[in-house]
Amino acid sequence: MNRQKIVEELKKFIAIESVSTDPKRKDQIVKAAEYIKTKLVSLGFEVRLLTKDPFPPLVVAHKKVSDTAKTIGIYAHYDVQPEDPADEWKTPAFTLTSKEGKFYARGIADDKGHLWQNIVAIEELVQENKLESNIICVFEGEEETGSLNFEPYVKEASDLLSKADVFYITDVGMHERNIPQIEYGLRGILYFTLSVKIGERDLHSGIYGNRVYNPINVLADLVASIKDVNTGKIKLPGFYDKVRKIPKEELEVLKKGAVSDEQERKEAQTYTVTTVDGLPVYLSSKIAPSFDCHGILSGYTGEGSKTVIPKSAMVKFSFRLVEHQDPESIEKMVREYIQKKLPQGVKYELTTHGNAAPFYTDIENEYVKKTVEILEKEFGNKVLFNRSGGSIPAAEILQRLFKKPVVLTGFILPDCNLHSPNENYDEEIFWKGIEVLKRVYGI
Ligand code: BES
Ligand code: MN
Ligand code: MN
Repeated sequence: MNRQKIVEELKKFIAIESVSTDPKRKDQIVKAAEYIKTKLVSLGFEVRLLTKDPFPPLVVAHKKVSDTAKTIGIYAHYDVQPEDPADEWKTPAFTLTSKEGKFYARGIADDKGHLWQNIVAIEELVQENKLESNIICVFEGEEETGSLNFEPYVKEASDLLSKADVFYITDVGMHERNIPQIEYGLRGILYFTLSVKIGERDLHSGIYGNRVYNPINVLADLVASIKDVNTGKIKLPGFYDKVRKIPKEELEVLKKGAVSDEQERKEAQTYTVTTVDGLPVYLSSKIAPSFDCHGILSGYTGEGSKTVIPKSAMVKFSFRLVEHQDPESIEKMVREYIQKKLPQGVKYELTTHGNAAPFYTDIENEYVKKTVEILEKEFGNKVLFNRSGGSIPAAEILQRLFKKPVVLTGFILPDCNLHSPNENYDEEIFWKGIEVLKRVYGI
């Protein structure tokens, strides 16, 4: 393996600032898709960029080996999170930097590193004449913004995609160094922006305090009424109706991935940890739904004090959902609740963004079995079957549309700083991951 050449090409890929949430970098998104296309064409793939302006293209590519061979579908995403807070990076965010055994850069762990590992694995198999499966690649450019067009795009390519016998999704991590993991469950997500407006201008809080609604107080009251921060329970009526109790046998499986509260605290670099309904902390983001605010904006936040009642306020929040909860009915529930809860006469606007259904899959199939063997051989430890609290809309969509096994795995470590400054990928594990993928696709 020519590691130097691989790193050079990866470096060029990383340098493309494919931040999907930033409209100013739309050209970078397209450039990243083109970069992948050029590489895949050089490996003998037929490549299409499905495009719906102004959205990021979906890269769909296939390479046929034979009519009788198995067809493997591979999913990864080439878009990344914004680099902010930019001044907290110790190395430039879009320059792939190798330091103390780790690669650092935005997107190296999520998910451009995995995407490139897949490409390298296939490239090596092609060069060694060992590619024995037909390959279909589905590389997305709007995962980090909620995969709004993934389903329509995939339907457009369904003639090809329905030929896949299995989909490998490489966008999750290992439990710890050398403990490989296959995820069989992910939470869904439903994301909102809520703006409230009480009038046409900001007001003197002495003259008007008590006479008008304060939009910050109104939002604070609403947010507090949705979740009890001490019990962790979501208080929306009917919210838990469809949530099933996890069977004992499954809890036993999940117990193997137990993490102490102290370890949790260290990993997250927080002062304390919390949970929901008395569950062990490590389970609470895997098997329970959650509600979190992501940003809040209003009023005076400058030096000193200003006695003002702002005219408007805005909050962004999301719900993570577990299996059997469906985003549509929870959205309806949230909309009705907010309409009832907000004071009459206050104007508001509620918009939804990303929305992913929860993912839960069967692990009793030949592909999981084979992947487990390969992972255990390469890393020297038993595979952990686990669930993650994160969301990947594509996982549920591919499973629902094509009804084929979905194998969810990846090689990033818990300290990879996903979505944070100094995102990283352990180099030794990166190269091992390529070996694993070569064996998975080589048959
Ligand atoms: N790769 C992550 C999801 C993930 C990370 C799952 C680690 C399991 C373990 C993905 O890129 C992600 O960040 N998804 C978003 C989805 C949202 C924007 C719709 C998420 O979970 O917040
Ligand atoms: Mn990802
Ligand atoms: Mn992500």
